[in-house]
Amino acid sequence: MTVSTIILAAGKGTRMKSPKPKVLHKIAGKYLLSFSVELAEAIESKEAIVVIGKENELVIREALSDHKIKFCVQKNQLGTGDAVKIALNNKKIKTKYILVLYGDTPFITNCTVKRMIKKAEKGFEFVFLGFQSQTKNSYGKFQLGPNKTLINIIEKNEPGYASSECLSNSGILLARSSMIINLIQKIKNDNSNKEYYLTDIAKMAAKHGYSSTYVQCEEDECIGVNSQLELTVAEKKFQDNFREKLMISGVTLPSPETCFFSHDTVIKAGCVIEPNVIFGTGVTIQSSTIIRSYSYIEGTQIGKHCQIGPFARLRPGTNLSEKVKVGNFVEVKNASLAPGSKANHLAYIGDAKIGATTNIGAGTIFCNYDGKK
Ligand code: UD1
Ligand code: CA
Repeated sequence: MTVSTIILAAGKGTRMKSPKPKVLHKIAGKYLLSFSVELAEAIESKEAIVVIGKENELVIREALSDHKIKFCVQKNQLGTGDAVKIALNNKKIKTKYILVLYGDTPFITNCTVKRMIKKAEKGFEFVFLGFQSQTKNSYGKFQLGPNKTLINIIEKNEPGYASSECLSNSGILLARSSMIINLIQKIKNDNSNKEYYLTDIAKMAAKHGYSSTYVQCEEDECIGVNSQLELTVAEKKFQDNFREKLMISGVTLPSPETCFFSHDTVIKAGCVIEPNVIFGTGVTIQSSTIIRSYSYIEGTQIGKHCQIGPFARLRPGTNLSEKVKVGNFVEVKNASLAPGSKANHLAYIGDAKIGATTNIGAGTIFCNYDGKK
């Protein structure tokens, strides 16, 4: 099946109360929006079109410059239905199906989208993604017909918005291209917010006799980030999952809840990460290394059988070979230490290449800056 993906990221993000675009806030060092872009890549969609607002156009283009994607600008944020309409009117989509992802919903998995695709292959023209929530929330709610058909999605503050026993809407939708292209033109904004709701597609599809159904997944996959509080909830979920995966793979974490990882942290089996260690992006650690408490590590490669910290600061460009020791209050930046070298106490090592089994004495400072260069 051929699929094109439209990712909505033009919303104002008012509820974040932040000068930064909502979708450029980060979880584990990765932009919220990058999660959806990578999902589009993982399902091998033919193209990914990101809808962005005029005011954030440049920063978002810059932030995603590593990805092969197309952009569409939504001048006025008139709602999710309007955003999809703009993408469909501006880009000629030739694939049989269109997947709509929201840029503020980072944890949807490849496997869930594949389940949606399977449903579509069985002949359903619209497949929505829903979840059962344990708590009261303000997500759109599914209204179901017989045989798992979906007849409507009711948004908060609209008539008939109902209780927690209804399935909540994740926002993710897979649709037959020809049908969504047709219906999207007809969405109206006759609701309390005067917004064009993409979710109105559900009742319109039912009215036109198109077949609509849903796939259900875990609530954790569907977390939408609208506020700082929800960003923290999402970060916590990510960290908890990541810690669990590390422990399952053979990393010792005596106090996992006090250590924080980036989306791309790689730590091999047999390593010990003591309490209160923080990983920025770009860190790889080979097996049987110990990182002692209160160390902060980013952009660093560490070999086997090393001992780092306590209180070590390893900055981008650090490359430590096997059996290297970096002790307390030692900062390393853009420097490599060959096997068996040590810098155990109170030192700064910057822009340097240290040979094997060297000992950097206590209090040594590398003067790599003369005030100009
Ligand atoms: C939306 C759904 C709701 C669902 C929830 C799941 C609608 C009307 N409601 O609500 O049913 O339960 O997501 O998280 O779709 N955006 C634009 N242009 C706009 C408005 C929004 O691109 O004009 C983008 C936003 O940047 C965001 C996404 O669309 O990434 C969703 O918009 P948001 O305002 O967060 O919708 P919700 O209120 O969360
Ligand atoms: Ca949202």
